[in-house]
This record gives sequence, C-alpha cells and structure tokens, in this order.
Amino acid sequence: MANITLTHDGKTFEFPLTVGSEKEGGIDIGKLRSGSGLVTLDPGFVNTASTTSSITFLDGEKGILRYRGYPIEQLAEHSSFVEVAYLLLHGELPSAAQLATFQQTLAANSLVPEDLKHLYRAFPRTAHPMAMLGAAVNALSAFNEDVSDPNVPAQVEAASHRLLAQLPLLASWGYKHAKNQPFAYPDASLDYVSSFLKSTFGLPTAPYAVDDEVRRTLDLLLILHADHEQNCSTSTVRIVGSSKANLFTSVNAGISALWGPLHGGANQEVLEMLELIHNDGGNLQKYVDLAKDKNANFRLMGFGHRVYKNFDPRAKIIKGACDRVLAKLKIDDPLLDLAKRLEETALKDDYFVSRKLYPNVDFYSGIIYRALGIPTNMFTVMFALGRLPGWVSHWREMNALKTPIGRPRQIYTGATERDYVPVAKR
Ligand code: ACO
Repeated sequence: MANITLTHDGKTFEFPLTVGSEKEGGIDIGKLRSGSGLVTLDPGFVNTASTTSSITFLDGEKGILRYRGYPIEQLAEHSSFVEVAYLLLHGELPSAAQLATFQQTLAANSLVPEDLKHLYRAFPRTAHPMAMLGAAVNALSAFNEDVSDPNVPAQVEAASHRLLAQLPLLASWGYKHAKNQPFAYPDASLDYVSSFLKSTFGLPTAPYAVDDEVRRTLDLLLILHADHEQNCSTSTVRIVGSSKANLFTSVNAGISALWGPLHGGANQEVLEMLELIHNDGGNLQKYVDLAKDKNANFRLMGFGHRVYKNFDPRAKIIKGACDRVLAKLKIDDPLLDLAKRLEETALKDDYFVSRKLYPNVDFYSGIIYRALGIPTNMFTVMFALGRLPGWVSHWREMNALKTPIGRPRQIYTGATERDYVPVAKR
C-alpha cells in the first residue's frame, strides 16, 4: 500500500502505512511531530491504534471476535477457561501435557498470603467488592517483590502464574467479608472454577458439592470475558506497565478502569436497571424514551459498544446460555423475560437502530450470575476474573515489544502567560 501524504504550510510529509494480518491499515505517524510540529487530536482514542498486537482480533462491523485466531464461538463450545488463559498467554493451544502442567502450576500457587486477611478486615462489611479486589491485588505487589522485575522473563512468568492462581481466592474473600463468614482456602484437588465456587459458597460446617451446570456456565462466562483487545481497562494495564510498574499494580489499575459503569461496571448497572423497570410496573417504553432523552442522564445499560456496530458475538452466546441455564437450574426469572422484551422494544426504535446500539456482553450476563447465586455487586468482580488472562497477556506483550512509556500529547487551551497577582490585590 502507498504511503499517506500530508500537506501543511506548503510542505509535504509522507507517512508509511502499517497493515495488520487481517488487512487493517493504520497510518504510522511516528515521525509526525518531529517533521511537521503537529500532533493528532483524538479524544477517547476513537481513531487511534496505540499498539500492534497479536493477541485478539475483533471486527465490530461483522461481529467477529477471535483469540489468537480462534473464533470465540469455537472456544466457547469446546475449550475451558484455563486452556483459553494458556492460549492468550502463550499464543498457542496447549498440548495435553502442557495443559496439565499449567493447571498444576496454578493449583500450586493458589494460596494467598495469609496476612492479606487483615486487609479485608479493615474494610466495612458494606464495601464494594471491586474496592477490596483492587486493594488486594495492589497489596500482592508487596508480597511478591521477588518476581516484580519486568526485565527478567522468569520473574514475569512466575508473577503471571501467581496472579492468575490467586485472583479467585481474593474475589471469594471479598464475598466472605461482606457475609461475615470465615475466609476459605482454595482446593487444589479441584479445577480452577470449582475451587473458586467452593471457596466462595462453601462453609466449614458442611461439605460443598460443586454443581456441574453452575461450573460449566461460569467457565463459559469467564471464556467470553477473557480478552477484548485494547479496551479501557486493558489499555490502562498497558499504559501503567509501560512505566515498568510491576504486573500486580498494573492489573490493579485495570481493575479500577473496569469498575466504571461505562465499562465492566455495566453488568451490575444492567441488573439494577432491570429491577428498577420491573419494580416500576415493567413500562419498557418509558425507559426507552428516557434513554433517548439527552437531558435525562439515563442510558440503557448493556446497550452500545465502541467497536461493535452490528452485534456483540459474546452477547449472542450469553443470551443462548441464559435460556439454557435458567431452564436447567429450574429458575423462572421475570428479569430475563423483561430483558428480552426491552431488547425487542429498543431494536424497533430508530434511535437505537440508527446509532447501531445493540446489546453488549453485559446485557444478559447479570441474569446468569444471579441464577448462579452471585450477588449483584460481585458481577464486575466476575468480569475481572475473566479478563485477567487478557490483562496479563497484554502486559507481557507490551513489555516484550519494549513499548515506550505511554505519554500522550495535548493541545493546550488554557490561559497564556500572565503575571502572578498577590492575594491582597485579587
Ligand atoms: N443508551 C442510550 N443512548 C446511547 C447508549 C445507551 N446505552 N449508548 C450510546 N448512546 C448514544 C449516545 O448518547 C450517542 O448519541 P448521539 O450521537 O445522539 O450523541 C451515540 O449513541 C453514540 O454514543 P457514544 O457514547 O458516543 O459511544 P461510545 O462509543 O463513546 O460509547 C459505550 C460506548 C460507552 C459502551 C456506550 O454505548 C454506553 O454508555 N453504553 C452503556 C454502558 C454499557 O453498557 N457499557 C458496557 C460496554 S461493554 C464493556 O465495556 C464490557
């Protein structure tokens, strides 16, 4: 492909095109400022590729999502979350022996430093579980200084394993603290998801049998959330890591970004919105109209996506799973019916159609989490558990590519130079 030419102030500048393996082109403006003195202005990075990446491909127009080339539909049907985590981290599906070793490594590293319990105990019982999760992951940097050097590959590998192995227990301790129940331990004889379920919902007073339907469904949800290229939280992890901050604290930054209601926090907001509509008599049109009203400060949560402008393939899979799981668990949730009718009503409305606003991954996931017994304020924690392999893989890729420190420019619009006025004269 030809270079891109920019003419400014009578001078012409040439910029090469970088073309990806799926034929997407990007103008490489690396020499823009040094040549022309100009920068680009792109609030929200709507048009900006911050990096090349070989982890995840998505095509928002066609509704395509692939991890390392594998379609999400195939991974959802045939793979497991731990296998997907390996795939994201290493770029290839593991052999049976590699998978077994990876599972054993995670199980062997799953015990969280005991003193971290004190951190949880310092939180009010009403604390949001995302606040506890972020604090605990950040605290892990203090317990893992022996593996915190990004320049030593063996330390990066060990830090990745410890974080992947321990996040489920940290999530479960947030739940236990809120419930004022004893903190539990992982069960290394169980698989990753079963151990999480047991440490979260089990009690020392009774045996805990993992329901296979619940385990499989949670595993599916984690697969669907495992990566989504340069989204807000992943970009945050990469930019924090670009300062050579350690993996734990970089991921903590991603957890903060994920918590926002426009990102991973939307799953909690969706359920609260559905409850609100249900308790208000189920008048869907009222809330669709409210979402269209620019003065109302109300959006249909779980609708719309920066990249997907046709459909979100994850939402399609989750919607199907929702019907199946609720039927198998014999749960009749009026919110599922309400959600389906809300989708129908919105998708008949020109406001949503013309803006290409479709249900996203968060629209139906909350109904499943609820059916699995997970409290609403834990939904975003579940998202974080799923997204962790993506964050870690992107941090490692950023590190391996020797990405320069993330430091955007700005166009300054404030006051020009003026003299200081002593306070008595203001
Ligand atoms: N309800 C009502 N209107 C909406 C919605 C919505 N959910 N989403 C977008 N719009 C409207 C905007 O008001 C805007 O209208 P305008 O052109 O008349 O001004 C137009 O659609 C474009 O919206 P933007 O906010 O510019 O789109 P952007 O790409 O910046 O935002 C986002 C994407 C944040 C996901 C947005 O659609 C949204 O807020 N959705 C609700 C929150 C949500 O579900 N977030 C989860 C996203 S998936 C994830 O992060 C895991």
